[in-house]
Amino acid sequence: MSASDDVSSRAPYLDAVVAYVANDPARFHVPGHKGGSGADAALVAALGEAALAHDLAQGLRGIDDSPEPTPYTQAEELAAKAYGAERSWFLTNGASQGNHALCLALAPLGRQIVAQRNSHASIVDGLVLSGGNPIFIEPEYDSELGMALGVEPAKLAALLAEHPEARTAFIVSPTYYGLTADVAGCVEVAHAADVALVVDQSWGAHLGFHPDLPPSALAFGADAVLTSTHKLGGSMTQSAILHLGSGERIDEAALGRAIRILRSTSQSTLLIASLDAARRQLVTRGEELLGETLEKLVEVRQRLAAIEKIELVDESVVGQPGIAGFDPIRIVLDVRAVGCTGLEFLAELQHRHGVHPEMAAQATVVFVVSLAETDEQFERLIAAVAASAAALDRGTAAVEPVPRLKASGGCVVTPREAFLGEAEIVLLDHAVGRISCESIAGYPPGIPALLPGERVSAEVIEHLRRTAAAGSRLHGASDPTLTTIAVLLEERPA
Ligand SMILES: Cc1ncc(COP(=O)(O)O)c(C=O)c1O
Repeated sequence: MSASDDVSSRAPYLDAVVAYVANDPARFHVPGHKGGSGADAALVAALGEAALAHDLAQGLRGIDDSPEPTPYTQAEELAAKAYGAERSWFLTNGASQGNHALCLALAPLGRQIVAQRNSHASIVDGLVLSGGNPIFIEPEYDSELGMALGVEPAKLAALLAEHPEARTAFIVSPTYYGLTADVAGCVEVAHAADVALVVDQSWGAHLGFHPDLPPSALAFGADAVLTSTHKLGGSMTQSAILHLGSGERIDEAALGRAIRILRSTSQSTLLIASLDAARRQLVTRGEELLGETLEKLVEVRQRLAAIEKIELVDESVVGQPGIAGFDPIRIVLDVRAVGCTGLEFLAELQHRHGVHPEMAAQATVVFVVSLAETDEQFERLIAAVAASAAALDRGTAAVEPVPRLKASGGCVVTPREAFLGEAEIVLLDHAVGRISCESIAGYPPGIPALLPGERVSAEVIEHLRRTAAAGSRLHGASDPTLTTIAVLLEERPA
């Protein structure tokens, strides 16, 4: 990552937006709320006048309508420099937009690609748009905690050898739980097979900005890296950045075209300015802010681990297959010994203590910690975890994690054919053996249990019902009650 310097301490896009507003323009352009005067009073009160004043349209003089490099171009160039990328693109529809664009550019109609089976739902949505044909690779799995881990390089090498037509492989690192894969090893085997490696580093926009964190996938030579900057990088919700590595294996122009058709012609200035500002903060103060949080976390972890029946997932897991590194900017509790599920533990924290974790699963509760966590926040967390562990302790046996869902056997038709094909709605129990038109994922973490193009199995039905019963939202299901499902219309004999 680049060290802070005079150039990096600028935020050209943010500065241009601020300068436009400071010039007191007579606004005869969109947005129609005219900097807030035409907006609902409660919205102005909630967001503040400044937020609405800086919410501007694209193409304004001094912001986008100026000679190249415009403030927008300069801001993207500074992002590329900060992350050590050949080129970076700002995204205003989340990392999801990045995955959609990557699929359009790298997995066009009928093209085979290798993808980690538990990739985020936006990968299969991208394949619906592009028509690409996925070959899935199963990640390693911790069956004690019910956690999917990273992909092992040897497995990737074997699959690439079996499918020599595949020119791109998509992996995820770090996971929701902050566990990184052996990205260096995956880059090595992918490049040996002349395959581009794309790393979904949505959970690692901060990686590379402190020496005690695992390095960014770009430092290992990944060909494209996606960072969901709003998650842990300090920008506003829905903003993200897609980075191109050396650019040898990925056509920059094709990727740029794909990103452009997936974005609004009225991208939010607030989101873009927040990316520019977040990049500056990471470069100029990231190490200091992350360092302060990491220092506090040492004691916080000790105090959490001292709570009866609470275990912490920590760096001791590094070295297990599928785990090459641990990002300490995450607190993962193992609550099995309390005798409740992670989801019950989460509900107790939320309802009784107003403490809101990022996610829970059968065995675990995940808390996202970020750049500037206060002592007061940590005290609330520790007190709430201690009280919840005591309140929920029923003296019963430890909860068993949900067993791993057996590999589906892959897509029998492409996700695009299944999603756009002629469908019929059938009762879920009548769907066994039929080809799903839907992608259904428990959210969070948004990993589809069933993909369009896969055959529905009794096991997947049982898994989805358990997921819904445990309180997860089902993303992508046409019938949220799961009574029915859309499957491909069967060809009937004439
Ligand atoms: C691994 C991964 N990739 C992509 C995404 C999509 O990110 P966004 O919400 O920024 O669109 C997520 C969201 O949780 C994710 O976990």
